[in-house]
Amino acid sequence: MTPKTFKIKSFGCQMNVYDGERMAELLGAQGMSGAAEGDDADLVVLNTCHIREKAAEKAYSEVGRVQREDGSKPLIALAGCVAQAEGAEARRRSPLIDIVVGPQAYHRLPEMVAAAARGARPVDTDMPAISKFDAFPARRRANPSAFLTVQEGCDKFCTYCVVPYTRGAEISRPEGDILAEARALVDAGAREIVLLGQNVNAWADGGRGLADLIRALARIDGLERIRYTTSHPADMTDALVAAHGEVDKLMPYLHLPVQSGSNRVLKAMNRSHSAETYLAILEKVRAARPDIALSGDFIVGFPGETAEDFEATLRIVDAVGYAAAYSFKYSARPGTPAATMEDQIPRDVMDDRLRRLQERISVHQLAFNRSKIGVDTQVLIERRGRHDGQMIGRSPWLQSVHVETDAAPGDIVDVTLVAAGANSMAGVIRRKAAA
Ligand code: SAH
Ligand code: SF4
Ligand code: F3S
Repeated sequence: MTPKTFKIKSFGCQMNVYDGERMAELLGAQGMSGAAEGDDADLVVLNTCHIREKAAEKAYSEVGRVQREDGSKPLIALAGCVAQAEGAEARRRSPLIDIVVGPQAYHRLPEMVAAAARGARPVDTDMPAISKFDAFPARRRANPSAFLTVQEGCDKFCTYCVVPYTRGAEISRPEGDILAEARALVDAGAREIVLLGQNVNAWADGGRGLADLIRALARIDGLERIRYTTSHPADMTDALVAAHGEVDKLMPYLHLPVQSGSNRVLKAMNRSHSAETYLAILEKVRAARPDIALSGDFIVGFPGETAEDFEATLRIVDAVGYAAAYSFKYSARPGTPAATMEDQIPRDVMDDRLRRLQERISVHQLAFNRSKIGVDTQVLIERRGRHDGQMIGRSPWLQSVHVETDAAPGDIVDVTLVAAGANSMAGVIRRKAAA
């Protein structure tokens, strides 16, 4: 039976969230509709993540959960990075899966659903030259802060990472397509656009780089804020650093993962930077935009990481003073060089290092938030808060800000920040900003 309703569950990074939105629009254009919250759907798309073992396992536990009480089940499509990494093998692990579709093959999803409805079991993990983006229908819905994928894939091959295998080689979307999509998102209500890519600052189109793209986007009326994520230190050009000082709409926030503070570990990870070259980049960024909030990613327990290496990681956290940072225990991924390196670190050592690192990060996070108490700024309202009359939005530094206001999602309001927690701020309205 041809499915009439669908549900898409996205895990992992923001690029999966973006892909999930686009798949929903694509299925919608085929006449299907999204199932209401709590209702069964005829088709469930699990948009999965393969980055760490736990994330990958979640894909299969989710497959088990979609069976209904009466024993029947919807059509199940395994999408995303687990689908790409495991291909047909995924169905041997779980025969409940009807469709396996990799992240570069979403434009074929409608025909795969039709085939599955006829009883076929299609698998497509091609990385074809035709871009999935060309098949997606025009944008008609947007959040106040909308994601826009401009670059995909990765050529960096860090020794621990699956992304170059699950997302393929680096590709950039053409500038004209991106500007058209950005305009459509703004027409649909977006006030902020977050440019996405596994290596977003490697974006290039005929000699133009991300800084040029940001400057072009900044000319779009109605678009008030621009962000981008995730960047690699190797592609942090002077032009992009300069844009942080010159483009008002570019928000003062930079997510620039370092992974470790130890040069020995960075080398084993095949990161192309050292602790020193990383810090030198941040110094330039801070010179261009002194109030910039810095964020990063860390891995603890990479094979061979000594107590001394780990101390170097704590030192770089102190040296940068991150406004936010994400830290993970190393997870050995099948097929990556690090998985077979000697001296894998025991779990209890990793647990201990992760705890100490997270403590250190939260000290800096709280200090950053406290430094903004008393500051007059603007907040983009995104959604309702838990209490009546309370709304939640974002400051320019990406802090989550709670405010009492009758402003609606998409409004930008003038706020004084009055209190700080580790993960959010409280603000009071000065007056509604002129639109
Ligand atoms: N392209 C981005 C990161 C993409 S993955 C970059 O290069 O910075 C997001 C984060 O997951 C990485 O920054 C890294 O900290 C973490 N990560 C990737 N592979 C991992 C693994 N095998 N184990 C633990 N964490 C990992
Ligand atoms: Fe993975 Fe490294 Fe590429 Fe980031 S740069 S996606 S960590 S291989
Ligand atoms: Fe996960 Fe794939 Fe993103 S592995 S982090 S969903 S690129």
